[in-house]
Amino acid sequence: MSPLLKDQEIIVDVEELVYGGEGRACYNEQDVLIRRGVPGDRLRVRITGFKDTAARADIIEVITPSDVRQVPICPVFLDGCGGCQWLHMDYEAQLYWKGRMIARIIQDYDTLSHVQVHQVMGMDDPFYYRNKMVVRMRGPKEALRIGFQDNKKWVLNVYNKESGQCYIQHPMNNQLGRALAVSLTQQRRPLKSATIRVSDEEEVSLDLEKKWRTDIASDLEGIGRQTPYVHYTIHDRRFRVTSPSFFQANTRQTGVLVETVLNLLPKQPAKTAIDVYCGVGLFTLFLTDRFESVYGIEESKTALEDARHNAETL
Ligand SMILES: C[S@@+](CC[C@H](N)C(=O)[O-])C[C@H]1O[C@@H](n2cnc3c(N)ncnc32)[C@H](O)[C@@H]1O
Repeated sequence: MSPLLKDQEIIVDVEELVYGGEGRACYNEQDVLIRRGVPGDRLRVRITGFKDTAARADIIEVITPSDVRQVPICPVFLDGCGGCQWLHMDYEAQLYWKGRMIARIIQDYDTLSHVQVHQVMGMDDPFYYRNKMVVRMRGPKEALRIGFQDNKKWVLNVYNKESGQCYIQHPMNNQLGRALAVSLTQQRRPLKSATIRVSDEEEVSLDLEKKWRTDIASDLEGIGRQTPYVHYTIHDRRFRVTSPSFFQANTRQTGVLVETVLNLLPKQPAKTAIDVYCGVGLFTLFLTDRFESVYGIEESKTALEDARHNAETL
């Protein structure tokens, strides 16, 4: 059997999704990972390269679409935007394949073979939810591209156009993205990226390169209230999150996540809990209702400071 060659065109049937979001097909006993491939698709693909033992490929033609393939709501998605991976598949299928991926990863660990992976819980409305955005900028002032990086580190333009938006970002992040595009096209500053976090309390934290921070921050004024940290209320608890600290990016689903974890805990009172990798204390603080003592372990200085603050203001 001759090995696959770069630029070779082949026809394949996608069998499953693998970690990273590519569709996996098999051709002459070799794995082929196809960007934007959907399980159930029959595709004509071109081999773009090889990594580890698998060939990588791009779609040339969808010969027979999978039953779960859908037209993506976002116009930038099929151009290759890296802001999300799965808009070309219906939401139920996304949830199913997320669960399968986790199950596959767990299978590789002998010590976890007893773990049962439950069905992934979806959102009622899986759009406009991300509270944190890392937006990248490339190109000259006249042709600025501001958006998200694809897998080849190419930045596709999302925000440097009227009503440009990302369908999974919080509406305030989209407003800030567009305002940033206006600011940078009026006066190009060689900014490469910005990290922006927003909360439902209309707070905005901007993590910008020091040199441009004041100018750009003042251009973005009027959209929310700028602050060094934002707050998220999950059930009855409010968490402070300083810009570099981790917090779950989907605020709406975080309540569901916490509830699920608490429901899985043994009902009888227990003595000690250790929240390894505790971040700003999301689970740690809920665990204090159930355990005599709770320890949180965290390596990030800002997250630790936030966790202490959050514990003190319980
Ligand atoms: C994915 S976050 C989860 C945080 C928290 N459990 C939550 O759900 O909000 C993982 C956290 O682990 C921390 N972390 C990563 N490696 C660590 C290590 N070796 N020791 C302690 N903390 C670590 C990171 O700084 C980060 O805050």
